Amino acid sequence: MSAKIISGTETAKQIREELKTEVAELKEKHGVVPGLVTILVGEDPASVSYVTAKNKTAHNLGIHSEQVTKPADISEEELLALIDQYNKDPKIHGILVQLPLPKHINEARVLYAIDPDKDVDGFHPVNVGKMMLGEPCFLPCTPHGILELLVRAGVETSGAEVVVIGRSNIVGKPIANLMLQKRPAGNATVTLCHTRTKDLAFHTKRADIIIAAVGVPKMVTADMVKEGVVIIDVGVNRIGKTESGKAILAGDVDFEAVKEKAAAITPVPGGVGPMTITMLMKNTVQAAKQAAGLL
Ligand code: GUN
Repeated sequence: MSAKIISGTETAKQIREELKTEVAELKEKHGVVPGLVTILVGEDPASVSYVTAKNKTAHNLGIHSEQVTKPADISEEELLALIDQYNKDPKIHGILVQLPLPKHINEARVLYAIDPDKDVDGFHPVNVGKMMLGEPCFLPCTPHGILELLVRAGVETSGAEVVVIGRSNIVGKPIANLMLQKRPAGNATVTLCHTRTKDLAFHTKRADIIIAAVGVPKMVTADMVKEGVVIIDVGVNRIGKTESGKAILAGDVDFEAVKEKAAAITPVPGGVGPMTITMLMKNTVQAAKQAAGLL
């Protein structure tokens, strides 16, 4: 058996078309143009490429976007002042500070400074709390994208054994929480594994769905999964460069071997990545509608 490939690229394209129509209607009927600002500190190549892709996508959808890049030695005070400026800017509905931040900056202080109504990353404790309670809020983009992929690929999650590998605040913790809730792509029995898990393969072998978000290339191997498993691979690991200098990417899952056993699997690249950016756009449109009293 060779797995069905769950294409994030195709699903993201479909959602972007829906959003493009929604953005055009918002402008035409209500005079509302959703606005996003991305704030990048420093020049980490991966972060630069993510932020550039976010702004390009926003532009393509008719979303007003501003890309702010600050030197790595910016002070925390200066960064907080910048956030405050955008908190007050009525053209801007969504504020995204690209992570990670340089060591001298307190990440929590920066994230907490963002107005929760403009927190399109869903990282502010107000939104994290609401998410945990199952209340309406901005969902963090990568978990949000995973839910949408599962729904649109028709994966049955109700009663399924889901194993999440990785306990980050951005992916592992929120996706584990969301998938046990009573919601689309929810109602699962969730196990959250991490670096201190004693026997990872014991858990993964019994999983109906595996969500790998660890950042270790090809860590999940074919002998660790059962026949018919559904794999969502969140890993984006740079494992080398082509002769022309382009990054060679690998997921957290040994795609070639595991796809022979899986029922469905997301590729890297072209899986979760394009969905993350798309859900950021969806959150920005949601923020604009909320600000205009349309939700
Ligand atoms: N760095 C890696 N993923 C993300 C993300 O989803 N949002 C932000 N702001 N930074 C990130």
